Amino acid sequence: MKPIKVGLLGIGTVGTGTFHVLKRNQEEIIRRAGRPIEIIMVAARNVERARAIVGDGVEVVNDPALVVNHPDIDIVVEVIGGCGIAKDLVLQAIANGKHVITANKALLAIHGNEIFSAAHKKGVMVAFEAAVAGGIPIIKALREGLTANRIEWIAGIINGTTNFILSEMRDKGLDFDTVLKQAQALGYAEADPTFDIEGIDAGHKASIMASIAFGVPMQFDATHVEGISNLQAVDIRYAEELGYRIKLLGITKRTVDGIELRTHPTLIPAKRLIANVEGAMNAVLVQGDAVGATLYSGKGAGSEPTASAVIADLVDITRLATADPEHRVPHMAFQPGSISNLPILPM
Ligand code: HSE
Repeated sequence: MKPIKVGLLGIGTVGTGTFHVLKRNQEEIIRRAGRPIEIIMVAARNVERARAIVGDGVEVVNDPALVVNHPDIDIVVEVIGGCGIAKDLVLQAIANGKHVITANKALLAIHGNEIFSAAHKKGVMVAFEAAVAGGIPIIKALREGLTANRIEWIAGIINGTTNFILSEMRDKGLDFDTVLKQAQALGYAEADPTFDIEGIDAGHKASIMASIAFGVPMQFDATHVEGISNLQAVDIRYAEELGYRIKLLGITKRTVDGIELRTHPTLIPAKRLIANVEGAMNAVLVQGDAVGATLYSGKGAGSEPTASAVIADLVDITRLATADPEHRVPHMAFQPGSISNLPILPM
């Protein structure tokens, strides 16, 4: 069957993982997608380095516009990050009728409404499993597995860097800066790590989950965000003595008055499962009215765990793009035009 053609914007940690996993597991992936998925072009700042990763057979270019404007590309995968050039490229890809996969939580939390609306008008899909909780398929769980439920609340450890820092500080008595450097070296941290330690990254992800769970537009501006930079080793030790662990949680909850949306350090009884999620692992608790409480845990950052989520979207879009467009399930957080009017509550 004719391959679906993919262009990759960026080949850093996630892009490299995507390329390797797609190649390594290609037989299974083709079987599941129903047709081959072929990366035909990669845009990279460092072309030589990119060539060394992808080898022959994949065109490497310096100009990302060549990817989004390429007539043969069906799906553009954006793994550049940030809200600068990534936004223009995603909108251009959509305008050109291409489906988009993005791991970019900041882009979605801040400009998602504009992006989804453009995609809706153009009839293309925007998928973003990798944007929240890395390798945990939480977007698919919320959108598909729990679709029968009225979601009541979600609470998650959704930033691997801060969970790694809190775990290492508690277990090994290491200081904040040392552990942050380790997280950066392991590829967990954002380009600007203040996004991690000030809770902004987790706030972006919580906004995305709220949007899917409650059918509200992305409203990062209305999110209460507090990080871990004011925590000291002594806070962690005292919490421990009292039988608690400190975790940075992204929380969103339906109330009679509207939606709570907040990210902050939280004391959790040490015997709770989520309190024992350590290192760069993430975990998300979702309470649905029919199913009750469900817990998802796994690696929330890093090359191949995040690639696993990107490729899940590649397979999904490949299947759906092959189906009748009239009956496609749109890959977006909410349906523009049919959104809930629940307000985000001030905190
Ligand atoms: N900086 C993020 C984290 C990467 O630490 O979780 C994955 O989104």
